[in-house]
Amino acid sequence: MLSEYVETRDYVDILTEFDEARFATPAEFLSQLSPIPPRLYSIASSLAAHPGEVHLCVAIVRYETHGRKKSGLATGFLADHAELNRPNIPVYVQESKSFRLPADGTRDIIMVGPGTGIAPFRAFLEQRALDGATGRNWLCFGEQRRATDFLYGDEFLAWQKQGRLHRLDLAFSRDQAHKIYVQHRMKEQAKELWAWLQAGAFFYVCGDAHRMAKDVHQALIDIAREQGGLTPEAAAEYVNVTLMRTERRYLRDVY
Ligand SMILES: Cc1cc2nc3c(=O)[nH]c(=O)nc-3n(C[C@H](O)[C@H](O)[C@H](O)COP(=O)(O)OP(=O)(O)OC[C@H]3O[C@@H](n4cnc5c(N)ncnc54)[C@H](O)[C@@H]3O)c2cc1C
Ligand SMILES: NC(=O)c1ccc[n+]([C@@H]2O[C@H](COP(=O)([O-])OP(=O)(O)OC[C@H]3O[C@@H](n4cnc5c(N)ncnc54)[C@H](OP(=O)(O)O)[C@@H]3O)[C@@H](O)[C@H]2O)c1
Repeated sequence: MLSEYVETRDYVDILTEFDEARFATPAEFLSQLSPIPPRLYSIASSLAAHPGEVHLCVAIVRYETHGRKKSGLATGFLADHAELNRPNIPVYVQESKSFRLPADGTRDIIMVGPGTGIAPFRAFLEQRALDGATGRNWLCFGEQRRATDFLYGDEFLAWQKQGRLHRLDLAFSRDQAHKIYVQHRMKEQAKELWAWLQAGAFFYVCGDAHRMAKDVHQALIDIAREQGGLTPEAAAEYVNVTLMRTERRYLRDVY
């Protein structure tokens, strides 16, 4: 398929593959390239909790295709080339208009954020504590292995002990023979999750758009069908229309 062909090749692959791709000067080659688009990263810290700082949670992209080891442009730069504390990496803030905490701090929130999708929820939890928000907080996090990938794990476990984090569900996909993902934990807790939604909880999802967000979306529809006693059509309508559009309390930041 064309998309698979294009997505797994960079300029070096193309120049190596096609002898006829030749340029008289480096400038002629450079003039053919598109400008590099910026990369977005969710902010993982509350400014009120860390004045003057912005924390990011970045997964370094590394893979091998067509016999060459490759790194993501931005993450490879950060991991392998950027000097520590270098002050002049150009950045800007793109404000999210909708992916925000409820204005009413008494509302419960459910946060599903596997992998780097955890970033905004660490910031949310910091901010809710400083705001004195009384609503309950439920976090569902997933990664490959608990021993190496439990991002911000010490903080979340401490907050759970302190009663700042009311529920913590963990899905480590590669700690056992079969995959356990966040949507499996949601389904195990379907009754409780439905009760929170019925009590007006906001439902947030952040992270991988290609597989995870679709599966979590389907899990939510399945929970509405089973726990709410709805037909498949009514369950889909509840999630896609009522929660997402009418009440705007199912919010996603997926990539
Ligand atoms: C709203 C939003 C929020 C985001 N938040 C975060 C965040 O908090 N943390 C975070 O880490 N990222 C986040 N991202 C993703 C981030 O913006 C970058 O896309 C990501 O870091 C990769 O950038 P890069 O320049 O390192 O890789 P690029 O140079 O852009 O390379 C990525 C490309 O490499 C190719 N590729 C990658 N893996 C493979 C493979 N195994 N085989 C073949 N080809 C492959 C694919 O074509 C892929 O599109 C977010 C994105 C958006 C849109
Ligand atoms: N991290 C990288 O090196 C990398 C490279 C290229 C692109 N990306 C993209 O960056 C985004 C986020 O990546 P990330 O590093 O934050 O983590 P991620 O790739 O989203 O993985 C986080 C966790 O989600 C699990 N997972 C896989 N499929 C799932 C599904 N269908 N439903 C629920 N959970 C699922 C993974 O399990 P398993 O891995 O065990 O299946 C892992 O435990 C994604 O779009 C990803 O495709 C990441």
